[in-house]
Amino acid sequence: MKIFILGANGQLGKELVKKSPSAFEISSFSKNEFNLSELDFCKDKILDLKPNWIINAAAYTQVDKAEEDIKTAYKINTTAVELLAKTVSSYGGRLLQISTDFVFDGMQSKPYSPKDKCNPINVYGQTKLMGEKLSLKFKGTIVLRTSWLYGNFGNNFFLKIFNLHKFQDSDSKEIKIVNDQIGCPTNTDNLASICWELIKKSEIKNPTEKIFHWCNSGETSWYEFAKSIGEISAEMGLIKNPAPLKAINSYQYNSLAKRPKYSVLNCSSTIEFLNLKQIDWKEALRFALYQKLNKEKNI
Ligand SMILES: NC(=O)c1ccc[n+]([C@@H]2O[C@H](COP(=O)([O-])OP(=O)(O)OC[C@H]3O[C@@H](n4cnc5c(N)ncnc54)[C@H](OP(=O)(O)O)[C@@H]3O)[C@@H](O)[C@H]2O)c1
Repeated sequence: MKIFILGANGQLGKELVKKSPSAFEISSFSKNEFNLSELDFCKDKILDLKPNWIINAAAYTQVDKAEEDIKTAYKINTTAVELLAKTVSSYGGRLLQISTDFVFDGMQSKPYSPKDKCNPINVYGQTKLMGEKLSLKFKGTIVLRTSWLYGNFGNNFFLKIFNLHKFQDSDSKEIKIVNDQIGCPTNTDNLASICWELIKKSEIKNPTEKIFHWCNSGETSWYEFAKSIGEISAEMGLIKNPAPLKAINSYQYNSLAKRPKYSVLNCSSTIEFLNLKQIDWKEALRFALYQKLNKEKNI
């Protein structure tokens, strides 16, 4: 089975490549090799190689920048996604489109299920939701929504906070972190496994549902997440001491885009379809830090 991985240089893309099953014939593409803004090129490349599946981990992911660069965000997260679905389905291939908890407005106080109403409150969320809707019109598309992605690749909250804890000195100021947005961090290592399981299982038994959710289990705030990164890193000897943190609210944190106050995902239908358990977010964090420790020790 031939599989394309798009966005192969992104944090999820790298894990997907790393964890790709050897039974599959994988072609992975970075933005330079497969640019979603070059629609004709994308279409021709797909029709030329006819992959059975495309995993689209490429996206315009700069949430704040998207507020001012609506056109580009729309082209990458909406127009290109529709084109991928249309092209791959024209010969019976399938798209696994990665999407986001930011399709929800955050007004709910219990985990969002795939059937809950979407109402994005920022441009990034709006363009991702439109990408979902337009791609789902084509047979074979599956949407997998996730939240608060982090891992040892790329540029993410976990790595930024880890480095702030590690490289603090006596002159360092306390790190201000938002405490009133609740969600669930998701380790890319775990999400990549879920993507592969979804493809394997869908080949055996086509799911009746087309939208799935996946995150680690439990819920937390960005502040608690940052605090745990410091505490567990110190416990493992990766850093000397956690850096001082200060909890602030969203109003005190100047950002262009609004973020949902609550965006935990209900993953029950995915758990049932794949017959897999979720991993607690702190356990998944511990695993990411172990990977870092092993890398430092060159294991
Ligand atoms: N990060 C999160 O917290 C989060 C949460 C929920 C859902 N998601 C979704 O999960 C998926 C993976 O996200 P991620 O965190 O791995 O993002 P990421 O690290 O930012 O990776 C996205 C990749 O897309 C590539 N890309 C950007 N514009 C492109 C274009 N025009 N053509 C082709 N590739 C392009 C980027 O390339 P360059 O680096 O070269 O620009 C990057 O390698 C995305 O669909 C995202 O919406 C992410």
